[in-house]
Amino acid sequence: MTDWINRWETNRIGWHAEQVNRHLIKYLDRLNLSSGDSIFVPLSGKSNDMLFLLENDINVIGVELSNIAIEQFFSENNLDYSVSEVDKFVLYEGEKIKLYCGDFFDLESKHLHHVRALYDRASLIALNEGLRQKYVKHLSDIIELDARILLLTLNYPQHQRSGPPFAVSKEEVGELFNGSFDFQELYCIDDIENEPMFQNLGVDFVEKAVYLLQKVRV
Ligand SMILES: C[S@@+](CC[C@H](N)C(=O)[O-])C[C@H]1O[C@@H](n2cnc3c(N)ncnc32)[C@H](O)[C@@H]1O
Repeated sequence: MTDWINRWETNRIGWHAEQVNRHLIKYLDRLNLSSGDSIFVPLSGKSNDMLFLLENDINVIGVELSNIAIEQFFSENNLDYSVSEVDKFVLYEGEKIKLYCGDFFDLESKHLHHVRALYDRASLIALNEGLRQKYVKHLSDIIELDARILLLTLNYPQHQRSGPPFAVSKEEVGELFNGSFDFQELYCIDDIENEPMFQNLGVDFVEKAVYLLQKVRV
């Protein structure tokens, strides 16, 4: 955890994208959200994808360890916010958006009131194998039945490069969410051509995948 805080303090945030993620734009409708519904963005960073969701009239609830990330999100997008303390979190609240500053694993279902969907880009894959299991178990515990998840992952030969981002295969996604979730692969392509950093390390392939999951059992 201190490593993430340190990355924000020293501005080593290479994962942050200025552009809205094209898969979110393409597959947002698969989350079946209506105007005014809420989406949960775990490990949110200062993702501009949250801005896109707000612009589509979707309320956003996020959780992020670093106050720097959250404050930059509001200031860089010229959004007003208030700050309060809620349970173990500092809550940054703007119009249609609540960002909990603290540890994802302290989040409870009461913090995700009326959340109908979840967007995970660079969150599951930010965690090592042990934490990924804990993350999915906790996620599954705190989200409502029928909630849908749009999950974006990377897969590559893990022995050729260390994470984060960590490699997460389709088999692992199936195993992690096995039991309580239906899952469907929406997209999967080897995109090594557009990953010079991976190429320089001699990585053979970088599969980018998008999954749609739905919690169907408790
Ligand atoms: C790789 S970044 C991805 C951020 C965002 N999803 C995006 O697409 O830009 C992972 C983020 O998770 C945050 N993080 C890591 N562990 C966390 C935890 N246990 N609780 C809350 N946030 C966490 C880090 O501070 C970091 O901003």
